[in-house]
Amino acid sequence: MHVGIIMDGSGRWAERRGLDRGAGHEAGAAAVDATMLAAPGCGIGCLTLFAFSSANWRRPTAEVAGLMRIFRRFFDRAAATHRARGVRVTAIGRRDRLPRGLVSAIERAERATRHSQRLLVRVALDYSSRASIIEVASERLAGASAAAGARPQTTAIGLADDTETGDVDLIIRTGGEHRLSDFLLWESAFAELVFLDCLWPDFTPDDLAEAIAEFRRRHRRFGGVGHRRLARAAAESRS
Ligand code: IPE
Ligand code: IPE
Ligand code: MG
Repeated sequence: MHVGIIMDGSGRWAERRGLDRGAGHEAGAAAVDATMLAAPGCGIGCLTLFAFSSANWRRPTAEVAGLMRIFRRFFDRAAATHRARGVRVTAIGRRDRLPRGLVSAIERAERATRHSQRLLVRVALDYSSRASIIEVASERLAGASAAAGARPQTTAIGLADDTETGDVDLIIRTGGEHRLSDFLLWESAFAELVFLDCLWPDFTPDDLAEAIAEFRRRHRRFGGVGHRRLARAAAESRS
């Protein structure tokens, strides 16, 4: 099963405590760790975590710099922590605007964990679903008009990875907002959506298990007539 999480509410978590927003992002990093540990036990094979949207560059420089340091630390832990737990890590989104050191850390982490099979974690960084769709669609159009038979090139910008991983089954958004904010628009065509009021740093493995339980109570029809057994079989064959 592929689950996407829009990890929202860390800024408000900090502000409510009279802390700097950066403290909220630090607390959010701990929730990421707990969520990754709990995911395989919940039947999750792929987690896509929305960590930084292309619209988030609008934030104050200091907040952005703090976030980039947290992302760097996450990828620097690849060999020691993620690989040891059977987790493969990668990033989706644009890399050309990220700090050079972070890009190198991502590349090292991808190499170090490429054989891990228990869980795939895709961190969406400088990610815009619309930009990914436009990028891949224009490459395909260019490819179609180029020499006959030439396969269009795809890049690591998003949709190429996403189509390889397949549709997302469930999107969870914390923080109380009921919107997708440019996350996995293409891949969520038939996704179930769960919106939670809890702020991201407060999100626990129990909340994850409850969201999965809610997902399992939903009746997915994929446009069909809704035989529960068939719908479940279709979902399982895609995961
Ligand atoms: C989400 O939390 C994390 C990022 C966007 C990087 P926010 O920072 O948006 O938290 P709120 O919504 O301001 O509380
Ligand atoms: C979405 O949260 C992006 C991430 C969680 C990384 P935002 O806080 O940026 O979304 P909006 O601004 O409320 O739509
Ligand atoms: Mg927010």
